[in-house]
Amino acid sequence: VKPPNLYAFATADELAIQLRSYVLDAQNQSFARHDVFRIAVSGGSLPKTLAQALLQPGDGSDADTPQFKKWEVFFADERCVPLDHEDSNYKLVKENWLDKIPEDMGKPTVFTIDEKYLDDVEEMAEAYEQELVKVFAKGDSVRVPMFDLILLGCGPDGHTCSLFPGSPLLRETNAWILSISDSPKPPPKRITFSLPVASHGIKIGFVATGAGKKEILKKIFDGDDGHSLPSGLINHLAQDRVSWFTDTAAVEGVSFP
Ligand code: 6PG
Repeated sequence: VKPPNLYAFATADELAIQLRSYVLDAQNQSFARHDVFRIAVSGGSLPKTLAQALLQPGDGSDADTPQFKKWEVFFADERCVPLDHEDSNYKLVKENWLDKIPEDMGKPTVFTIDEKYLDDVEEMAEAYEQELVKVFAKGDSVRVPMFDLILLGCGPDGHTCSLFPGSPLLRETNAWILSISDSPKPPPKRITFSLPVASHGIKIGFVATGAGKKEILKKIFDGDDGHSLPSGLINHLAQDRVSWFTDTAAVEGVSFP
């Protein structure tokens, strides 16, 4: 294990078991603070891995059961497409995870984008930010929303959420949700958590697997400029609140102490 917390597993099954216990710990700690679990997820391969983790049988105790009725699920980034479009992160989460939850486990409350703003990405970002304000600020002024858990992926270029390397959006210090109309990864129109929101989760988990991630993980953990990459920046800012769930192929060449 290398600081902050870098875990590499030999198999996808092993990763799913450990990710499950990490998410359920976060759930249980969050229930001790308030009677709700607020989790943000991104797209890519994450929803499928998360579903595999959460929908496997546990030991039957409350602590080892996802209590989905008390979960509020948000999107760390979303594509500005209809919710049933094949590029939609909501559709990905719905088909891979939400639709597979057995009836008796209850369903999370999901905060999606408002399709009414599909023609105006800035309006869409503003509207999603207002959803967060309603949940996290409730009349008070809150500088940044505190998610109980933020689960992120890491692209081979070091992007995370829809924060891409070199983007001026990385300098945003106030807004919670940002809009993008020229994303280097299609589709071009997206909304995303800003860096302050993405780095302020009580816990932040990155899931990055496969040989396609080994060069970028070397840069983040061993390189001189790892901090300049979006995922490296979050890793740096959030320190021991961050955990990385990876596999052997993804950490090949990363030097563990
Ligand atoms: C998106 C995703 C994106 C993703 C990474 C990693 O909407 O494009 O949220 O940030 O998490 O590209 O994706 P993989 O896990 O599939 O490599």
